Amino acid sequence: MTLRVAVIGSGPAGIYTAEALVKQAQEDVQVDVIERLPTPYGLVRYGVAPDHTSIKSIANYLRRVLELPEVRFLGGVTLGEHLSVEDLLASYDAVVYATGAMVDRKLGIPGEDLPGSVAATDFVNWYCGHPDVSASMFTLDSPEVAVIGVGNVAVDVVRVLAKTAEELSSTDVPHDVLERLGESQVKAIHMIGRRGPEHAKFTLKELRELGELANADVCVREDEAVVLGGDFPRQIRGNIDVLQSWAGRDPVGRPRRLDVRFWLRPVEILGTDRVEGLRLERTRLSEEGRVVGTGEFETIPVGMVLRSVGYQSVPLPGVPFDERSMTVPNEAGRIREREYVAGWLKRGPTGVIGTNKSDAAETVRTLLSDLSDPTGHDRLRSAPIDALLHERGVRPVTYDEWLAIEAAEGALAKSLGRGERVKLAGLEAMLRACRP
Ligand SMILES: Cc1cc2nc3c(=O)[nH]c(=O)nc-3n(C[C@H](O)[C@H](O)[C@H](O)COP(=O)(O)OP(=O)(O)OC[C@H]3O[C@@H](n4cnc5c(N)ncnc54)[C@H](O)[C@@H]3O)c2cc1C
Ligand SMILES: NC(=O)c1ccc[n+]([C@@H]2O[C@H](COP(=O)([O-])OP(=O)(O)OC[C@H]3O[C@@H](n4cnc5c(N)ncnc54)[C@H](OP(=O)(O)O)[C@@H]3O)[C@@H](O)[C@H]2O)c1
Repeated sequence: MTLRVAVIGSGPAGIYTAEALVKQAQEDVQVDVIERLPTPYGLVRYGVAPDHTSIKSIANYLRRVLELPEVRFLGGVTLGEHLSVEDLLASYDAVVYATGAMVDRKLGIPGEDLPGSVAATDFVNWYCGHPDVSASMFTLDSPEVAVIGVGNVAVDVVRVLAKTAEELSSTDVPHDVLERLGESQVKAIHMIGRRGPEHAKFTLKELRELGELANADVCVREDEAVVLGGDFPRQIRGNIDVLQSWAGRDPVGRPRRLDVRFWLRPVEILGTDRVEGLRLERTRLSEEGRVVGTGEFETIPVGMVLRSVGYQSVPLPGVPFDERSMTVPNEAGRIREREYVAGWLKRGPTGVIGTNKSDAAETVRTLLSDLSDPTGHDRLRSAPIDALLHERGVRPVTYDEWLAIEAAEGALAKSLGRGERVKLAGLEAMLRACRP
């Protein structure tokens, strides 16, 4: 008897899970990778920055998994809308949830909901062409922009804001978005960390890239680059050295300017009808190591605030969820009988793509040790998922249809004289491309 597993979500965690199932199972296995979008790869497609083409090429590895005979891609099918947990448990021997972390964390300060105060999740979705966000969502008409947070997503957002449209032209940024980037009025970008350079979450390679921007001068204040103590891990020492090498540097007159700031926390986003400024308070660490305000304030006159303070998962209907950690409680990937979790939904929104591989392997080890039954007699499934979806009028996007979307994106890039591929914006355009 074949072990049938549904994996929900086709990001790295979902696809590495499918791969681990095929590799580790001692019996025949069939894996359906069920994805709400018509396209696979999760944040590799709709998160990794468009100018990071070598990282994006991880999709070429993930594609080989979807092409395995034991694996099937079912796009355009949403758990919680088209299918319930009960449907899945009636149709498969086990289910692995790998739906990632798709919403932003909140700052919890006044003015956060003003127009012009934007979650990095939305901004990233915008420049990546995610179908949840339309190309007309953002107009970069403010000369000054603040980016809150000093993690790698903040660095991506800053780079996209700092580069010219020409520099991004060979990437897969949707064409309407590229045109809007070309009309950007942004002159000054302030990237704001609430602690010091030694606490920044960005990685050295990503930080160095900011220093290589052709279109922007990067500035750091000497007093904010000071770091006490000297015994830091190599990555952090590298960050500190790079930031200190930029400190006090005079701008050389590039069209845009990036100020990387430290020891400032946002206390209010100012404005009546839209963002007109950002009020910051200088910070220090308390004896317990907590960030505390010093009572010293400054206001910067920004017209846009990009909040890049982390992603978080959303609960799936019928699946346990811990509102404190915003993850699904699990033991080595096991949630409860026949239900498992992998990726950012399992461990929270940190870690690079590769981290999800070992994470998925752990979940699969747990699953297979729970379900390995040489006789195969205790398999519970009864309702084939295809019939259920058909009954509900849902026609999943197949892997071949996804390939047709990809081909249309290649053809679009060619017709526009841009790189290898230009993303089709919107669900309709994607479905037209695969079901002409
Ligand atoms: C902006 C950004 C840039 C990044 N850049 C890099 C980088 O350059 N290099 C790097 O190594 N790491 C990068 N990362 C980290 C990396 O993307 C993550 O580690 C990884 O994507 C997490 O994998 P995941 O499968 O858990 O989640 P995701 O990649 O988010 O995949 C989840 C999938 O589940 C689907 N889904 C959600 N809900 C449902 C539902 N109800 N039903 C069906 N499907 C559903 C989603 O559409 C999505 O396809 C980046 C992260 C972000 C946020
Ligand atoms: N190129 C790449 O490899 C790449 C690219 C993008 C993303 N990623 C990965 O994806 C993961 C998510 O990245 P991320 O940047 O979203 O998250 P992150 O690394 O956790 O960074 C979040 C940043 O937001 C700050 N922050 C949180 N709450 C705040 C608040 N209330 N006020 C002010 N600042 C606040 C944090 O500061 P504190 O530290 O003080 O909390 C931190 O600087 C990371 O593991 C990252 O490495 C990798």
